[in-house]
Amino acid sequence: MDPAICEQRVTPAFIRDKKGRQRITLVTAYDFPTAKLADEAGFDMVLVGDTLAEVVLGYETTLPVTFETMLHHTAAARRAIRRALLVADLPYGTYQASEQDAVRFALRFVKEGGAQAVKLEGGQKRVNLIRRIVDAEIPMVGHIGLTPQSVHRMGGYKVGVFAMVLEGIPREVAKAVSEEVSTPTLGIGAGPDCDGQVMVLNDLLGLTFKRPAKFVRQYLHGASDIRTALAQFKADIESGAYPTDAESYHLPGHFRLKLPDILKRVIGPGDN
Ligand code: KIV
Repeated sequence: MDPAICEQRVTPAFIRDKKGRQRITLVTAYDFPTAKLADEAGFDMVLVGDTLAEVVLGYETTLPVTFETMLHHTAAARRAIRRALLVADLPYGTYQASEQDAVRFALRFVKEGGAQAVKLEGGQKRVNLIRRIVDAEIPMVGHIGLTPQSVHRMGGYKVGVFAMVLEGIPREVAKAVSEEVSTPTLGIGAGPDCDGQVMVLNDLLGLTFKRPAKFVRQYLHGASDIRTALAQFKADIESGAYPTDAESYHLPGHFRLKLPDILKRVIGPGDN
């Protein structure tokens, strides 16, 4: 990790304080290695997003992923993270039926998954629910997609979220919202005027198989690099180039000398 980045654990208050001073960095991660790398890279926040369903589990949408699966992946990310604030995404079905259930699921993310905050999607109609979760001492991240007419409704979104994701909205609207609310905004496809940015890890690593959205910037060609590596490994196995003697374990010298005798005793002298 960059030594300039303080080792102290990131808190919701730290994220709030960054507004207007420093850009907030958030990336998704879904398992131990990706969460560890994101944490070591110094990201402020790591999100175990329900995009897990699409980019890791191969579903067409985020809808099928269950709470138990999200919990399993959140716990893996928890084991990796030292500094970043870990946010878990309440998946579809955990907060649509009852607010009581939603609070219980959010509490399980904290108690069993080690999340420090939870996120859910939706604006105005989730206000009561967000209040209830915050009342249960769980920091919340909001998540909304806006139409231009929604800017003023956004002003009323001050119900206790310490950050909010703005997804897929015009730059001008995201700018207006970011200026209007004291809560830090985290943009994804919402232009550069948000207080921070978030991206789906597999998108930025080129590890997805769909055409990327306009806002995605690829920093790695993950899929093609992995394809090349796998093809090379397969070719090396087939040609005998892998493994070499240097990649093999060896008996210690004294055992190596005794090996023929030992084999004779164990297997017998054989035909020749
Ligand atoms: O699930 C997710 O990855 C998200 C991001 C798109 C912000 O919610």
